[in-house]
Amino acid sequence: MLFKRTHMCGDLRISDVDKEVVLNGWVAKARSLGGLVFVDLRDKSGITQITFNEDAPADVLEKAKSLRSEFCIGVKGVVKERSSKNSNIPTGDIEVFANDLTIYSSADTPPIYIKDDDNVDEALRLKYRYLDLRKPKMQRNLEIRHKIVKTTRDYFDENGFMEVETPILIKPTPEGARDYIVPSRVHNGEFYALPQSPQMFKQILMVSGADRYMQIAKCFRDEDLRADRQPEFTQIDLEMSFAGVDDVIEVQEGFIKRVMNDVKGIDVTTPFPRLSYDEAMERYGSDKPDTRFDIELIKLNDFFKDCSFEVFTNALKEGGDVRGICVPGGASEFSRKKIDKITEEVKHYGAKGLIYVKYDDNGISSSIGKFFSEDELISLVEHCGGGKGDIVFIVSGPSKVTYDSLGFLRRRVASELGLLDDNQYNFLWVVDFPMFEEDEDGRIKAMHHPFTQPKLDQLDKLDNDILGLKANAYDIVLNGVELGGGSVRIHDQELQKKMFKVLGLSDEECQEKFGFLIEAFKYGAPPHAGLAYGLDRLVMLLLGEKSIREVIAFPKNAAAECPLCEAPAPADAEALDELGIAVK
Ligand code: AMO
Repeated sequence: MLFKRTHMCGDLRISDVDKEVVLNGWVAKARSLGGLVFVDLRDKSGITQITFNEDAPADVLEKAKSLRSEFCIGVKGVVKERSSKNSNIPTGDIEVFANDLTIYSSADTPPIYIKDDDNVDEALRLKYRYLDLRKPKMQRNLEIRHKIVKTTRDYFDENGFMEVETPILIKPTPEGARDYIVPSRVHNGEFYALPQSPQMFKQILMVSGADRYMQIAKCFRDEDLRADRQPEFTQIDLEMSFAGVDDVIEVQEGFIKRVMNDVKGIDVTTPFPRLSYDEAMERYGSDKPDTRFDIELIKLNDFFKDCSFEVFTNALKEGGDVRGICVPGGASEFSRKKIDKITEEVKHYGAKGLIYVKYDDNGISSSIGKFFSEDELISLVEHCGGGKGDIVFIVSGPSKVTYDSLGFLRRRVASELGLLDDNQYNFLWVVDFPMFEEDEDGRIKAMHHPFTQPKLDQLDKLDNDILGLKANAYDIVLNGVELGGGSVRIHDQELQKKMFKVLGLSDEECQEKFGFLIEAFKYGAPPHAGLAYGLDRLVMLLLGEKSIREVIAFPKNAAAECPLCEAPAPADAEALDELGIAVK
């Protein structure tokens, strides 16, 4: 029999004493002490203690004795004040004396504990995700995610944006990761791509006169996974007609302000700082700088240009750089062992090694002590803004290697020193990205995508300094994570053709890849600009989580598998035959 619920477990308070209540939920804990059974009953709102004693009908008490963890039950009873209160839970002042019980479902012994700090292997958590999601923390994460989505829809609706769904079975989009492809039964040998983003459709919506578009959009990218990457993720996707960089930024700052207020109760100050890409790289070694702490990169080319240490002078001769960071208070924090460990870590970023110069009461100790006098190294520490008690780390090599290594290292040492405060939210914009970059094979490719508008007053660089050409592209960054990115788009056909040419795309290739967008642009394309946030990343950061898997109900594991439904899986032979596909 289904009990009609009157209250949620977590909502009962001392003011409810003497009320008749009906609760439905799961047994979090059951203790049978002869004539007395205590049950912690859990639903998504929290836990209430249920007491079955001799005042309950005999059959009810008997049934209660059979209760085990994760049985799904309904209880009727009366709220009473507890004699021994539990200040650890919000309902700790009361208990419910049960007079009726129904068992909806029994449960096998669960393979994982339903508690936040169970520390069980993630593989098991993902396989039994329905049990994992019963944990209070996971319920909260789903709830906050819902709230962020609701605030998003409300805010953009109030600002004239309309949600439009775009298709999932499409042609490849220009985001540049690998596509997931879906075979067509009707057109054997042909394939759909799943969207890496709704990019081209949202631009077409601008040509359609939609004016302001938004979508909570599923995106799919077959790329290597990390803590903040999933093959299937969600964007808050936006596009605005008759808008430039400042218009987009203004609307987005309003959005972030609103979300932070609604979800965290925090009033963030706008406008957010804007850093050019060049400045971000020079000061922080990263295009997504974490500015919660003060450590910045220092270029040491001039300082070392006449020294006799060949590692530095060779790097400079080869057109590279010498850069360092000074870590205040780092001298006592970084033992040889720790330095060895982070040296190995920076090697992942291409650094050949990591030089340290430690200055403390015993003077200087340094991995380049043999090549420089103590006075020279003291003056180096001082040149870097440091003094006694501090440590300077130095990397030399190609510019990119020094940025990447020290960009990583500054955050790594900040974490070591406990400088990363999860309750501090440093939003900022990185603007003026380069239009192009070189891939590993030296080929020119678009840094954002080929529809990004270059700075119109720098178009001469297309002919003489292509890597120096900047774009009207921007990223929004929070605490060292790229939260979103976008750009003003090219709406001028001639310029678009020129960009395709620079990217080495033939007319046929353009037609094949983007023909429908180019065609649409012939019929009155408005100037437009947009941006997309990673919704999962936004939720992750607002919840202080370290992985987006914690804020996605059913995520994929690092091998892009769903341990719950066991996708991917072989398709049956008949289906493959219909699709005209033979598996090699
Ligand atoms: P971009 O490729 O920068 O831009 O993506 C926008 C944002 O989406 C998030 N994101 C991801 N989140 C989780 N897992 C992934 N694999 C993943 N990849 C990206 C990031 C990122 O900032 N169409 C353009 C936007 C535009 O120009 O309007 C685009 O998709 O938070």
